[in-house]
Amino acid sequence: MHKLNVFNTTRYASSIRAELRASHAGETGAVWIYRGILLVNRFKRDSDIQTFAKHHLATEKEHLLQFENLIHRFRGSALLFFWMFAGFMMGALSMLLGKNWVYYTIYKVESFVDVHYRQQINALSKLEFCDKVDILKMMQACNVDEQAHRDEALSAINGEPNLAMRVWGNLVGTGSHCAVVVAKLL
Ligand SMILES: [Fe+2]
Ligand SMILES: [Fe+2]
Repeated sequence: MHKLNVFNTTRYASSIRAELRASHAGETGAVWIYRGILLVNRFKRDSDIQTFAKHHLATEKEHLLQFENLIHRFRGSALLFFWMFAGFMMGALSMLLGKNWVYYTIYKVESFVDVHYRQQINALSKLEFCDKVDILKMMQACNVDEQAHRDEALSAINGEPNLAMRVWGNLVGTGSHCAVVVAKLL
């Protein structure tokens, strides 16, 4: 990927700022989901979860860094601490409930993120802005990783999700949707 000039101080139009702010918030939340999982796993010591979460965490940190490099062009969400907390709680709680909950949670989150990135790439491709081609490439590369995370989580789920898991999964989906709406504004 062509290196973006991170010193370019161009401030984007508000619709573009909103999209970048939402994705930056989402990648922040993602990092903290895995931190929550890994913290609880210090006590549970599940080696499959350890490998899964550490590998995903490294990818999410890489995604986050790419958005952080551009943050002067859009301003981060005013609720960043809340996204960290929410991500951490989602990860920690799912791990407290069991590894299948972790895989199912990641599957639901990443399924949401995949749709969101695709919609975002589609919306941004219709606009004109500085470094557009590189930013779209960056988002596409992130989305390929998110799809891999989703598929990896799906194949790790053991059996059919029970009713409680499905209710939780719907909550995760709705929560992610609301988070995007709010992060675009604040
Ligand atoms: Fe990500
Ligand atoms: Fe991901």
